[in-house]
Amino acid sequence: MNSIRAFAPATVANVACGFDIFGFAIEAPGDVVEIRKRDEPGVVITEITGDEGRLPRNAEKNAVTVVMLHLLKHLGIKDFGCEVVLHKNMPLGSGMGSSAASAVAGVVAMNELLGNPLTRQELLPFAMEGEKIASGSAHADNVGPSLLGGFVVIRSYNPLDIFTIPIPDDLYCTLVHPDIEINTKDARFILRNEVSLKNTIAQMGNVAGLVAGLMKSDYELIGRSMVDVIIEPVRSILIPEFKEVKKAAIANGALGCSISGSGPSMFALSKGKAHAEIAGLAMQQKFADVGIEASMHVSAINKNGATIL
Ligand code: HSE
Repeated sequence: MNSIRAFAPATVANVACGFDIFGFAIEAPGDVVEIRKRDEPGVVITEITGDEGRLPRNAEKNAVTVVMLHLLKHLGIKDFGCEVVLHKNMPLGSGMGSSAASAVAGVVAMNELLGNPLTRQELLPFAMEGEKIASGSAHADNVGPSLLGGFVVIRSYNPLDIFTIPIPDDLYCTLVHPDIEINTKDARFILRNEVSLKNTIAQMGNVAGLVAGLMKSDYELIGRSMVDVIIEPVRSILIPEFKEVKKAAIANGALGCSISGSGPSMFALSKGKAHAEIAGLAMQQKFADVGIEASMHVSAINKNGATIL
């Protein structure tokens, strides 16, 4: 095989109470990476579509190729040559795991081209390097689900301990992206480093409740547990109409609603597709009321993660 195309899906990180430790993948949108062997050594980016010329074309600076270079180095492969095309199908700085999707599609495509020397789990640290380049932090709550699929829990970063948990079949996500941009680096910078004992106790209760609710298909428990007392109160000030949008989602049948990743996208979880769509329209309307256009994606949880096309 001389050329490979890989797709990696958008993701919702944090899932309300699980800052840096929870994330899940959705069906679409997602980024596509094409990689083609060439005779001359070196990894080069030949084309990027959908980024309005904003992403670096230098292979050592772009998340999609940085992960490939790390993988080649790890495998001790020198003099390998390939051309890379990246199709970005989601906005930058959207809170939809845009950089993670590119990094994951890149590392999965390269691994496939090399005959799959590493497993999906083994590819994780490489994909995390791409996240580090793009956002300044090697968090795994976007790359994890984009690579592995499903609802991912990161129990520990050092050593890396990451796994998926069972979720109810009828759980649907609504992702609403208002047409504004938030840089993950900035959205991390504004967070406080200290957390009170009171908030830690509340957050731990919700983390445990959300995992139990998902594993037991207890939709009410899922909804009650989608509460973030640590990050959301700080970051929500960056999102116009945050409170109204959240209220509208829940009033229209969603189990819960919060910021997707570092925002500005907001997500809701619902029982069934119909509720997810109704909640999404209400969320969109709240943004429209103040003149902000917002796109909407309704999706089941994507259990497969990245795929070879
Ligand atoms: N957990 C990360 C954050 C996800 O919230 O900063 C960024 O998409």
